[in-house]
Amino acid sequence: MDKIIVEGGRRLEGEVRISGAKNAALPIMAATLLARGAYTLRNVPSLVDVRTMGEMLRVLGAGVEHHDHSITIDTTGCEAREAPYELVKQMRASICVLGPILARHGVARVSLPGGCAWGPRPVDFHIRAMETLGAKVTLEHGYIVAECERLKGATIHFDTPSVGATENAMMAASLAEGTTTIENAAREPEIGALAGFLRSMGARITGDGTDRIVIDGVDELFAADVEIIPDRIEAGTFMVAAAITGGDVLITGMRTDHCSAVIGKLKETGAEITEEGGGLRVKGPVWARSVNVTTAPYPGFPTDMQAQFMALMSVADSTAVITDTIYADRFAHVPELKRLGARIRVDRNVGVVNGVKRLSGARVMATDLRASAALILAGLVAEGETHVSRVYHIDRGYEKIEKKLAELGARIRRERE
Ligand code: EPU
Repeated sequence: MDKIIVEGGRRLEGEVRISGAKNAALPIMAATLLARGAYTLRNVPSLVDVRTMGEMLRVLGAGVEHHDHSITIDTTGCEAREAPYELVKQMRASICVLGPILARHGVARVSLPGGCAWGPRPVDFHIRAMETLGAKVTLEHGYIVAECERLKGATIHFDTPSVGATENAMMAASLAEGTTTIENAAREPEIGALAGFLRSMGARITGDGTDRIVIDGVDELFAADVEIIPDRIEAGTFMVAAAITGGDVLITGMRTDHCSAVIGKLKETGAEITEEGGGLRVKGPVWARSVNVTTAPYPGFPTDMQAQFMALMSVADSTAVITDTIYADRFAHVPELKRLGARIRVDRNVGVVNGVKRLSGARVMATDLRASAALILAGLVAEGETHVSRVYHIDRGYEKIEKKLAELGARIRRERE
C-alpha cells in the first residue's frame, strides 16, 4: 500500500485543473444498463471507484474500455441481473445498479453494501422506492432481490433527501409505466447531471434541481454520449488547500455555481475569492478566521467538505463549531488531526475546533476518502513531515492529488509503505 508524505510550510501558487466528478460518473455509468447500445462518457476521472464500477458493468455483461479520460461502454450483451458482494462491498455506490437492472429485466439481485467507515448508511430508501414502483423486494442471503412485471409510476416520498435513492428512483421510473413523482428529492448537481443524461437517452424528466422531480415513463431508452460535470468536492478541496497555505491559486475547469456554499464559508474565513476567466482565484488569508459550519443537503454546505474544512479550522484564529447533519459519526479524521496537534472535541455529530497557531507533522492514517484529503491539507501547513498512510482511500476519489499539489509548489510525494 502507498503512503503520501507532505512536508509542510509551502505556500501554494499557480493553476490547477479540476477533473470530472466521481459522484456524477458513477450513477451515469450505472444508467447505461437501461438501454442496449454503445456509449461514450467523456471527462471521466481516472479513479479506483470508476474502475470498480467499470468492473461491475463487465460482470453484468457489458464491454467496458477505459481510455485516458473517457470510457466506452457497450451494453448490447448485458443479460446478467446480479451485482455480487465482492464488488458491492468495495463501493457503496454500486447500489445504483439496482434501479436500472430491475427496470430493464424485471428482476435484480444486488448485494447489500454493509456498513462503512462512518456508520451504517442504510439503503432502506432505495428499497422502498422500488417497492413504491411496484416491485416485490425480499432480502435473501445478504442480497436485495427485487422483482416486478413492469414498474408502475407512483409518488415516492423520501423522509430526507437522498442522492443515491433519488438517482435509483429516477432511473427505474424512466422505464416504468406512467408517471412518477419524487417528493423531497435530492437537489445535488449530480442529480441534474444524471437527469440530463437520461433525457438524452430519451427519458422524460422534469424538475431536477428542485425537490420535486416528475418522470413520465417511456417504453424504451437509447444509448447516448455524455460529458461528466466537474467535481465540486475536488474543487472545494483545492480551495481549502489555497486558503490553508495562505496561497494564491487559480482553479480552472470547475463550476463555481456548484460550489456557492463552500465559497461563501471560505470568504467568511478571510479568503479572497474572485472569478477569473471562467475559473476561480483563491487567495488565502494569512490567518483564517474561525467560522461555524453546518452541513446540509445541496445547496447547503456539503458533508463531503466537512473534514477538509475542519483541517482549515484547526489552524484558525479562535473556535469553530462544525456540525454534520447528514451523517451522525463522520469524524474519523478527528483523532488523526489531533495527532498533528489540532484541538478538537466531538460530541455526537458536533465537532468543536479550537484553532492552534501551528500543527506539527506526524504519522497519521487515513480511514476514508475525505478524511485522507483533510490529513493531506493539514500536512501542507504542519511543521516537518506528515506521513499519511493507507492512501488507497484517496485514490478512490481524487485523481493524482499529489501531482496536482506538487505542481502548485507543495512538497509532497508518494512512497510504497
Ligand atoms: N439515507 C438513509 N437511507 C437510505 C439512503 C440514505 O437513511 O436508504 C440517509 C443517509 O444515512 C444520510 C442521508 O440519507 O444520512 C443522505 O445520504 P445519501 O443517500 O444522500 O448519500 P449517498 O447517496 O449514499 C452520496 C455521495 C456521498 C455523499 C452523500 C451525501 C455518491 C456516490 N456518494 O452518497 O459521497 O457523502 O451523497 O451528500 O454520490 C464521497 O464522495 O466521499 C461520498 C461519501
